[in-house]
Order: sequence, then structure tokens, then C-alpha cells
Amino acid sequence: TNSYRIAVIAGDGIGTEVMPEGLRALQAASEAFGFELDTTEFDWSSANYYSRHGQMLPDDWFDTLRTFDAIFFGAVGWPDVVPDHVSLWGSLLQFRRHFDQYVNLRPVKLLAGVPSPLAGRAPGDIDFLVVRENTEGEYSSVGGIMFEGTERETVIQETVMTRTGVDRVLRYAFELAQSREAKHLTSATKSNGIAITMPYWDGRVAAMAADYPDVRVDKFHIDILTANFVMHPDWFDVVVASNLFGDILSDLGPACTGTIGVAPSANINPDRRFPSLFEPVHGSAPDIAGRGIANPVGQIWCGAMMLDHLGEHAAAAAVQDAFEAVLARGDSSVVTPDVGGSGTTQTLGQAIAAAIAAP
Ligand code: NAD
Ligand code: IPM
Ligand code: MN
Repeated sequence: TNSYRIAVIAGDGIGTEVMPEGLRALQAASEAFGFELDTTEFDWSSANYYSRHGQMLPDDWFDTLRTFDAIFFGAVGWPDVVPDHVSLWGSLLQFRRHFDQYVNLRPVKLLAGVPSPLAGRAPGDIDFLVVRENTEGEYSSVGGIMFEGTERETVIQETVMTRTGVDRVLRYAFELAQSREAKHLTSATKSNGIAITMPYWDGRVAAMAADYPDVRVDKFHIDILTANFVMHPDWFDVVVASNLFGDILSDLGPACTGTIGVAPSANINPDRRFPSLFEPVHGSAPDIAGRGIANPVGQIWCGAMMLDHLGEHAAAAAVQDAFEAVLARGDSSVVTPDVGGSGTTQTLGQAIAAAIAAP
């Protein structure tokens, strides 16, 4: 039987609440489909680990994690204990960079049983993929502060785009678009205002488009693109964006599908030299943490994406079918408040695990 070694990092806040439900679904899938998951949990959180050690990770984290088949991650960040830039640059952003997880794949899908805040939208109307550049761009440590403490105080943070970095994520997005029925790729830009890096991005898109004559390519400036996500979400199939633009689009997209609580993401190292990392799009949600009402579907959907990445395609499809079926059933005593129910993280997680079955 196939066996996979999974590093589990639940993190902070609702990360610790949705993770057990993610693992419950994976356990059910492993029993139904006959493979083994060998999980190792790491308590690398702000609330516990940072409080005790003054850093987010042990010094040997890279060697510890690199031999795992995948990393299953909850959420990190607890701003009362550690400033967010310290906790996130101390963990998640290090994983993305050092493990070269240069694609952040974030599906956006309106699911049956989850009401959209957009009038008149039904399942099928919103079903697209955001491909977010995940290792460079606007997220850079190039910059600094000058004349600190004076009236001339000046703060600079540079955007970094490398040809390798841009081309590799665009290549992934073009291949993905080509593999889909619609074969439609939309690029997020802002070349009118950000007049050095974004025209460069556009130029790389245009150059690569020549290799994919069957893919229909268009682009929108990020401002109108956000508007179009709301006005015309049915226009999109694969959307490729730089790091910051992709971050924003991948909260807005799921909001259009009713809740960010269902949204998953795969931080992928496509050449498989390093483990990929699977985490919900949402964070630690301090406003609802501790109440047991966080929606676990984002974490469970991440589990499905991880199984797919590991090659367990039938199991991945069964997990996906299970959460879609339970949400579609719409039993208000089972589903969580963000989708209009009175259920809990556990009632929803248990119902999904119970629905996972081999065909
Ligand atoms: P957030 O995603 O944690 O929460 C935003 C809003 O969405 C909140 O109202 C929250 O209650 C709601 N929400 C989020 N997940 C939900 C779920 N599963 N079910 C129901 N409702 C849900 O974003 P934030 O408040 O900006 O950030 C809180 C902390 O999390 C910060 O420290 C931030 O840096 C961190 N964060 C971490 C990650 C990550 O680890 N990948 C991602 C985003 C934010
Ligand atoms: C996400 C998060 C992270 C990001 C934060 C927590 C650094 O918002 O995964 O979307 O901006 O990438
Ligand atoms: Mn985000």
C-alpha cells in the first residue's frame, strides 16, 4: 500500500480548530481507498512556539520538513502576541520561498447550498482558478527606512520580478488554461500606473502567448478586474496574477462565492524538488477563534488538493464529492454560521468524513 509522510502544522486560532476536521477527512479517505498517511505534528504557532522561543520555527526547520511528501498547514498569526509581519515572514513566507512553491493555486467555485452575495448567481456561474505568483513580486525584503525619526522619514519597498520567476508561473498558468475546456487565461496587470514592473509582466505574457495559440488571453488592470469579479464572475477561467494582486483576488473571489471559509490553496513546487504546502486561504480569524464555529471546508478541500498532488486522484475526488454533497444538502443544524447554519466546525467536519466513500 502507498504511504505518505505528511507534516502537519495547525498554527494559531481557528487553524487549530479546522485542522482536526481536515485530518478526519483524510483519515476517512485513507481507509476508504487503502493508502496510509503517516502524519507528524509540529506546534509552530505564534501563541505557543513564538511565546516560548522568540522565533516562529526551530533553526533546523528546513531539513526537518524537506523530506516530507507534503505539508498540511492551518493558519498562522496572532497579532496580540507577535506582529503579523514577524509571524508570517518567520514561517509561511519562508516555506513558500525556500521550498520554491512558486505557484499558489486557489480555486474559486460557487458551491450548491452556499448562497452567493451576488444577486442571481447560481452554481456553475462562478468556477475559476486563481494562479498567484508566490515567491517574489510585491512581497520583497528589498527596501528600507531612511532619515528615521525626522520629518524626512522615507520608506521604500521594492517590487522584484525576475524573468525566471515571472516566466515559470506564467508557464504553469498557460499549461493549466490549455488543459481546460474554456482555454481562457486572464492576466492581472496595472501597467498604466506601475509603469516598470507591470509592463514587463505584460510583455512576458504576450511573448508566451505565442507558444499557446489555442489559449484565449486577455488582461485587465487590477482595479477593473476586481470590479469584474463582482459584476461578471462568469467571465473567468484561469486568472494569473502577481503575488499581491493574486492575494487580493483570492479573498475577493471566494467572498463572491459566499464565504472565504471554504477556499483552499495549494502552494506548489511544480518540479517536486521540495514538498508542496496545502493551506486554506483564510487566516487564524481571532474574531471567531475558540468558539468552534469556523467552517472546516477550506481545510478539507486543501486535503483533497493534497491527495491529488500525491497521486491519489480517486480519493481526492471522493473528498471533493463529500463536502459538495454535504453543503448541497444544506442541513442548517450541520453547516456553520458563515453559510447560514447553526452547526459547528465538528458537526460539519464529521458529516463530511461520514460521506467519504469509495465508489
Ligand atoms: P482571516 O482570514 O483570519 O479572517 C477574516 C474574516 O473571515 C474574519 O471575520 C473571520 O472570522 C472570517 N473567517 C476566516 N476564516 C473563516 C472560516 N473558516 N469560517 C468562518 N469564517 C471565517 O483574516 P484576518 O483577520 O485578516 O487575519 C487574522 C490573522 O491571520 C492575522 O494574523 C493574519 O496575518 C493571519 N493570516 C494568516 C494566513 C495564513 O496563515 N495563510 C492567511 C490570512 C491571514
Ligand atoms: C495568504 C495570506 C498571506 C499572504 C499572509 C498571511 C502573509 O494572506 O496566504 O493569502 O499574504 O500571502
Ligand atoms: Mn491572503
